[in-house]
Amino acid sequence: MTGAPQVVRTVADLRAVLAPRRAGGVGLVPTMGALHEGHLSLIRAARAEQGTVVVSIFVNPTQFGEAADLAAYPRTEERDTELAAGAGADVVFAPTVAEVYPDGFATTVSVAGPLTETLEGAVRGRAHFDGVATVVAKLLLAAAPDAAYFGAKDAQQVVVVRRLVADLGIPTRVVVIPTSRDADGLARSSRNARLSSAERALAAAVPRSLRAAQDALAGGETDAAALVAAGRAVLADAGLAPEYLSLVDPGTLEPVTRVDGPVLLAVAVRLGATRLIDNVVLGTERTPS
Ligand code: PAF
Repeated sequence: MTGAPQVVRTVADLRAVLAPRRAGGVGLVPTMGALHEGHLSLIRAARAEQGTVVVSIFVNPTQFGEAADLAAYPRTEERDTELAAGAGADVVFAPTVAEVYPDGFATTVSVAGPLTETLEGAVRGRAHFDGVATVVAKLLLAAAPDAAYFGAKDAQQVVVVRRLVADLGIPTRVVVIPTSRDADGLARSSRNARLSSAERALAAAVPRSLRAAQDALAGGETDAAALVAAGRAVLADAGLAPEYLSLVDPGTLEPVTRVDGPVLLAVAVRLGATRLIDNVVLGTERTPS
């Protein structure tokens, strides 16, 4: 498609726009806006597979723990719409909070267990994933896409979304696109814009910590504690302490003690006011430098 995407604000309008286009396939890229190259890679992937690409832009209040974080989250819809168009979006779905959570709203989609209690759930509280699961379920119901596209950077979110899609029998394929990175390896995130230049320089230690564990594994180390220690040492050199740096099973997110198959190494670091998360699946993926 060429030209500006159609911007719709209500579920009724979204369904009306999509109704005549369903035969060619519909792809949904859920976002909270502040689009960057990572989002654009999701949109391009959807463009390559689907007749119609919808990008949702909704800063979802229910997944933010801190009011200040929600207030500070960048809102750049005009620029986002242009970027989405350039990457191939046909429709931008940008609902209001009242459209998504009308008066009397009382339903929460909650994925139980370690999927939402570990890692991000342990730090941010499980209400975070309740907010994500509820809004993703609503977006999938609104757009009824054939496929929805998510970034691998949010590995736990992907596992949670896969679970809810399977459990609720939602007929949408979940597509996961590799993490988009800056030249020094930092995973692209809307939050990176908030880093000061000193913090931005330190942030490169986050992907380096993953690579150190990966290198240790390549060197024959399979003990999880030793691999985590290799990653922690890199962060410590930069004066950083992770909120977590954990080796877990990529499907269940349960901790592992030894690497004898694919494992997810996930890290979260707070740099000033900004939280950075990243991950790598050891043994099957290389973190670019
Ligand atoms: O990854 C995000 O940007 C958000 O968590 C999502 C999936 C759009 C739900 O608000």
